[in-house]
Amino acid sequence: MQLFIEPPSSLAGTLKPPGDKSISHRAAIIGALAEGTTVIEGFLEGDDCLSTLRCLRALGVNIEGPHRGHVTIYGKGMFLKEPEDVLDAGNSGTTMRLLMGVLAGQPFYSVITGDPSLRWRPMGRVTRPLKTMRAQIWGRNGGELAPLSIQGGNLQSLSYTLPVASAQVKSSLLLAGLFARGETIISEPFPTRDHSERLLKAAGAALDVEGQTIKISGGRPLKPLAVVVPGDISAAAFFMVAGCIHPHADIILKNVNLNPTRTGIIDVLKAMGGQITVIPRGESSGEPVGDIHVASSQLHGVEIGGALIPRLIDEIPVLAVAAAVASGETLIRDAAELRVKESDRITLVARELGKMGASIQALPDGFLIQGNRGGDLRGAIVDSHGDHRLGMALAIAALVADGPTVIRGAECLAVSYPQFSAHMSILGVKVKEE
Ligand code: S3P
Repeated sequence: MQLFIEPPSSLAGTLKPPGDKSISHRAAIIGALAEGTTVIEGFLEGDDCLSTLRCLRALGVNIEGPHRGHVTIYGKGMFLKEPEDVLDAGNSGTTMRLLMGVLAGQPFYSVITGDPSLRWRPMGRVTRPLKTMRAQIWGRNGGELAPLSIQGGNLQSLSYTLPVASAQVKSSLLLAGLFARGETIISEPFPTRDHSERLLKAAGAALDVEGQTIKISGGRPLKPLAVVVPGDISAAAFFMVAGCIHPHADIILKNVNLNPTRTGIIDVLKAMGGQITVIPRGESSGEPVGDIHVASSQLHGVEIGGALIPRLIDEIPVLAVAAAVASGETLIRDAAELRVKESDRITLVARELGKMGASIQALPDGFLIQGNRGGDLRGAIVDSHGDHRLGMALAIAALVADGPTVIRGAECLAVSYPQFSAHMSILGVKVKEE
């Protein structure tokens, strides 16, 4: 499928972004392991979270839905059923890495794989520490690449400092820690999203957080949850950037998750001169939420790196679009992780935005971008390369191009934002799916 986008003369309206992807995965997995019935509202019905539900069903978990974001999970308690076939995580790194932590604790044999993109992504970062906990794991390239097979059970606790700031690795090890004898201690180099910690605590896990160290004790049963998933800031970010860069924009984004481990994009857009107002609206299932008002802005370049990067890692493709039309230079460093996301986002963001006339240089760990001071990008034929966030970032660039843009491979947008085109239309964009 391809998207055909015409740049609109104005961009206005109110949107409710879809449910948070990270929280939807975690609520489903923790609900499956709980003793009792977990009810989830606002579940993201994107392909990634559907992959998690598919795998949980294959592990014997009875699940109703999703239906309009409503999911009921009949928890099996800590021990699931040996799957009869290979588990398929699709395009979803979160599904594969988090489930590896669960499978490592199960006294049975399982195999998990994914699509070509996922089979290329590094898994040694979870398989190595899980092997130290005594899980037996095999995979291509010495356990680095899927398909991965696991013989789990009888885990030992672990004391481990993550070599990369990764919430997926942290969460995988915390889930494995639920099954281990004794206390598992995980330290992270920079704070990463802490949704697993919040939900595990709510489910009664013996979990303590001290700064960047998390301790979890195994052997305690989990209680079921009632989760209302807040809107995904990583989805909202596309329209935050759209609102800032379009000369006639006024957009309200409702019910967005404002967890401080995720709000780096708001901080950076504000630092670039973005007209962004956040209206806090309390909490939703232990996560802060609020509405975000964005209006046309005169953006200027910034330099970012270090601890900020994990707080906006998924937003960097669309941040590159903002930088490409800002005034001055933007330097993004310490983001080498982008090379091992759904695509090599450093190479491909630079290549595809380059086709639209952006002046963007790929660096080993980020980008150097010369903004065109609000000048037009060129409408072009560009490609998502099967990467949902690259596809949507290009669609946002298309809103300020001097002619129509065609985005090839647009079916992958459904991985995290199935309503993306519909939301573009609500704001007045002429967008056609062909
Ligand atoms: C996620 C963590 C991040 C992020 C991904 C979702 C999660 O990945 O990029 O989209 O839900 O834990 P890493 O853990 O690889 O940094």
